[in-house]
Amino acid sequence: MPNTIIVGAQWGDEGKGKIVDYLTENADVIVRAQGGNNAGHTVIHGDQKYILHLIPSGILWPEKKCVIGNGVVIDPAALITEFETLGKQGIAISPDNLAISDRAHLTLPYHRLLDSYRESGLGGKKIGTTGRGIGPTYVDKAERSGIRMADLEDQEFLDARLAEKIDQANRILKDSGAEALKLETIKVELQTAHQRLAPFIRETTSFLHQQIAEGKSLLFEGAQGTYLDIDHGTYPFVTSSSTTAGGACTGSGVSPRAIDNVTAVAKAYTTRVGAGPFITENAEFSDRMHGMGREFGATTGRKRRCGWFDSVVTGHACRLNGADHLALTNLDGLDGMEKIKICTAYRFNGEVLTTPPARVEDWKDCEPVYETLPGWPDTATAGAANISSLPENARTYLDRIAELCGCPIKLVGVGPDRKETLVCD
Ligand code: GDP
Ligand code: IMO
Ligand code: MG
Repeated sequence: MPNTIIVGAQWGDEGKGKIVDYLTENADVIVRAQGGNNAGHTVIHGDQKYILHLIPSGILWPEKKCVIGNGVVIDPAALITEFETLGKQGIAISPDNLAISDRAHLTLPYHRLLDSYRESGLGGKKIGTTGRGIGPTYVDKAERSGIRMADLEDQEFLDARLAEKIDQANRILKDSGAEALKLETIKVELQTAHQRLAPFIRETTSFLHQQIAEGKSLLFEGAQGTYLDIDHGTYPFVTSSSTTAGGACTGSGVSPRAIDNVTAVAKAYTTRVGAGPFITENAEFSDRMHGMGREFGATTGRKRRCGWFDSVVTGHACRLNGADHLALTNLDGLDGMEKIKICTAYRFNGEVLTTPPARVEDWKDCEPVYETLPGWPDTATAGAANISSLPENARTYLDRIAELCGCPIKLVGVGPDRKETLVCD
């Protein structure tokens, strides 16, 4: 398999974990390059369900190598908890199958507190973050005052930097009622974490370059989705990293010239968790999904907001990411519906838009233009063995999505298990 980037084409939770797991069979190295433990990637494998937050989904395959790249922000405590959870599920993790970049930034307790504090200060304008300290960690990175994995080796540097950051955080947090952070406690926690993680920390770019030179296949496991991207998303209702395809390169040290394929993952409808614009959101549709036990967040358990497929959002995402293919998941979520809507454009100030507006204020004034297609109320897609056995209306629906997005559909998900993935010819 060539070197492939998997990227979310909506607002995250598109089913990237499942698609990565499906494609891992033909890959050698699975790489995370941005985001942190705000991600929650579900992989269902036989009767086991795994939720990956920081560790690439490839870890479930014993013979594959996994890399957490320089662009990822790593909460060491969360990473160790993830080691333990996966260990209890029978997954062996060692420096033989996992490497952590020495340049990755650390998410520490003050980042988590600052995340909650900033959110509480926003009142009705909350972003609805995952509360994992992601934004404040990337702030430190951009402000050039972060702590990186390699710094754990230098106690003198670490003591000085921690003292400075904790003092700064305590001054910001003093009116919040939170207990003041103590340098000693964080230092000890970090020393313990360092002992556990040290064998995994290395210079990961040369390893990746060597793998490419040997003709091995890299699979980049994108986290979040295009509309949570710090530049291209529904700013400020976004995360703090580059979630689009380019982020895979900067966040791993692999050149864009080494990438052969970009696969954009989208649901057959749309979901979003957290606040921010979502034009095709539909309360009745959301209730239906939640009633079926679907669409609860893998990281926070929050109900996801749900709505119709939006080809303005997903089509533009295909262009932004240079997608060769779409992987469309959760088609089975539409089973049983009489009629299905697709948003084909936005009406805005007398104009028709096929690219989303820049400002959230303008998203509020956009009206979706819908096309209604017949559903397949009597024949389920769940359990379908191949594309040709899908109901005709489901195939027409897929064709219309591909046409509107200007991108061929290669994979279709009709269930959460990796086996429930259909390949289009
Ligand atoms: P990710 O963050 O993009 O990896 O996606 P999540 O794991 O957060 O959310 C996707 C949800 O959809 C999970 O519960 C998956 O098990 C589930 N899923 C993925 N593909 C399919 C599919 O084709 N059908 C069904 N029924 N569930 C799917
Ligand atoms: P995966 O990889 C869905 C959302 C949060 C919030 C915004 C900012 O599982 O697709 P943050 O904690 O990053 O500062 O929150 O981004 N968000 C996600 N939504 N899936 C994710 O990851 C997300 N990671 C962050 O809900 O709206
Ligand atoms: Mg998720």
